[in-house]
Amino acid sequence: MPLPTPLPLPDHETVSTAAAGWIEERLVRQPNSLLCLATGGTPMRAYERLAQHARSNPALLAQARILKLDEWGGIPLDRPATCESYLQESLIRPLGLGSRYVGFASQPTDPKQECARIASWLAAEGPIDLCILGLGLNGHLGFNEPADSLQPHAHIATLTPESLSHAMIAAEPVRPTYGLTLGMADLLQSREILLMVTGTSKREPLRRLLDGRISPSFPASFLWLHPRVTLLVDQAALA
Ligand code: F6R
Repeated sequence: MPLPTPLPLPDHETVSTAAAGWIEERLVRQPNSLLCLATGGTPMRAYERLAQHARSNPALLAQARILKLDEWGGIPLDRPATCESYLQESLIRPLGLGSRYVGFASQPTDPKQECARIASWLAAEGPIDLCILGLGLNGHLGFNEPADSLQPHAHIATLTPESLSHAMIAAEPVRPTYGLTLGMADLLQSREILLMVTGTSKREPLRRLLDGRISPSFPASFLWLHPRVTLLVDQAALA
């Protein structure tokens, strides 16, 4: 059954440890897995732990391919707020994974063309094996924002006010003007999905997710259609 009511773990740290273990177990089974990685506050500690373990066991990520889930359009790529900087600092640079890493540019001259580039890369290299996601306060996954309809593949997203208030860009003086994101079909075609949800701010979106009503007004609800979703939550989010 997809999305069984999760047993909560004590806190963000234990969720992060469990998430790193979940990823590692699968990388051992399939070392050349294609990982799609969200950024933001929720998964970064798990990536740090993964990087720590890969330093003592370099075989762990020696063949994995990594795809960045999304990006803030209009913010220079090297600013600390970008999804790029989050991934580069936690995983890509310390482990030297640059040659097996792909992601949206943040200031492409032609954003549509940039989406087409990522879409054709994924069409050739996909599907995603392990998709690591966080839950938006408004139910977004990546920048698949609540709307009347959702888009299947890489696309330019109109950012909602909730996304424009995201903690990642709170201190960033350059405001994003759009988002670049993989689409819902890209996510749902992943072989396995891990969704991490932690903290009191996620109580309401988690409650809505577990409600089980599938609607484009709450994109994460489409996870109910996927047969292999693991949900790791902490007590604060499930309370
Ligand atoms: C970021 C992303 C977003 C976040 C979501 C939750 O790459 O894909 O969808 O996963 O906004 O963000 P946090 O974890 O900061 O609460």
